[in-house]
Amino acid sequence: MKTMTCIEDLRQLASRKVPRAFFDYVEAGSYAEETLRANRTDFEQIKFSQRVLVDASNRDLSTTIAGEPAKLPFALAPIGLCGMQHGDGEILACRAAHEAGIPFCLSTMSICSIEDVAESVDKPFWFQVYVMKDRGFTRSLIDRAIAAKCSALVLTVDLQVLGQRHCDIRNGMTVPPELKLKNLLDIMTKPAWALSVLHGKRKSFGNLAGYVPDQGNINSLSYWIANQFDPALTWKDVEWIKGIWPGTLILKGIFNVADARIAAQTGAAAMVVSNHGGRQLDGACSAISVLPHIADAVGSDIEIMFDSGIRSGQDVMRALALGARSCLIGRAYVYGLGAGGRKGVLRAIDILRRELDVTMALTGVNRVEAIGRQVIADGKAYF
Ligand code: FNR
Ligand code: LAC
Repeated sequence: MKTMTCIEDLRQLASRKVPRAFFDYVEAGSYAEETLRANRTDFEQIKFSQRVLVDASNRDLSTTIAGEPAKLPFALAPIGLCGMQHGDGEILACRAAHEAGIPFCLSTMSICSIEDVAESVDKPFWFQVYVMKDRGFTRSLIDRAIAAKCSALVLTVDLQVLGQRHCDIRNGMTVPPELKLKNLLDIMTKPAWALSVLHGKRKSFGNLAGYVPDQGNINSLSYWIANQFDPALTWKDVEWIKGIWPGTLILKGIFNVADARIAAQTGAAAMVVSNHGGRQLDGACSAISVLPHIADAVGSDIEIMFDSGIRSGQDVMRALALGARSCLIGRAYVYGLGAGGRKGVLRAIDILRRELDVTMALTGVNRVEAIGRQVIADGKAYF
């Protein structure tokens, strides 16, 4: 892990260590990947304004996220199949997040179950829920999160219908991997991965084990989404979930000012402005280009979080400057997990922390609360 200087280094190492089907699953966006690319190119267009001779000796990156104290203004995003990036990936990522003093969010579509993670860590984590047609099963997932003392429930609202990722179809992406010759040959070149997954607690969707739907390939993510996720989900169901879940509720996947206004009225503690990392509506604009409009419209009514496209501390700074209070880190931490398990995730978090810290110093801010649009060069900033 010594020469890992930036997230791109971790990405390259992960691409060598993780079997193709699972690395591609992380990398990909939906369809022609226009939105995936826009998420990055629009970040790069946002330029900072440097300030000098501002006392930068006392910087503090701590904050609160949906009411929870956090040492850094970001949390680890819910990511499906982390346990296929590295054996017990969810447990390792959660431990790394806790060591770094930031929240970790477990996905419904994780390999390790809620209970596996709960018995392996000593602090609460967040749980992300996808609503299935079978509301009894959805309710049981939420009850399990309550029993595990999860400190927040993240309700993802932008993936009841799946945007297609071509590579997942071509690779036959299932858990455990389909025993095609191509996959076996690939896995033979990744012995460290194979060993870690072999020793991992589980090899399939841990939260769904025991819930046996009627038909189809229950080892495939696209099967679950197409057959079990409920496309009839509406704002009324948010009320239903609020009635079941007693704690902090976060709505993830708000991408438009009209929806943001409704979300702000639900009583949720926070919402995540996101386009699911360019994995859903292809042809949509970047998430960062939407953020300032949503912040202007509802920023005083509900706490705003942001994800989609963050690959550096500079990007975290840009999102905070444009109206987010905190961010979720997606692929940037998953690369660390694939590259080096818990240590790789710690390295990813540390890279982002250092980059954010230096960016704050060079733009003349000492506390994350002080990050605002003044750090962005708008053409006038230099005069
Ligand atoms: C995701 N994301 C996601 N979101 C969610 O609510 N539940 C999930 O199970 C998953 N699974 C998942 C898997 C993978 C491989 C990726 C890359 C993403 C979306 C995720 O939480 C977050 O919104 C995006 O990752 C943000 O985009 P960036 O930062 O990865 O570009
Ligand atoms: C994904 C789903 C699981 O993005 O959220 O792959």
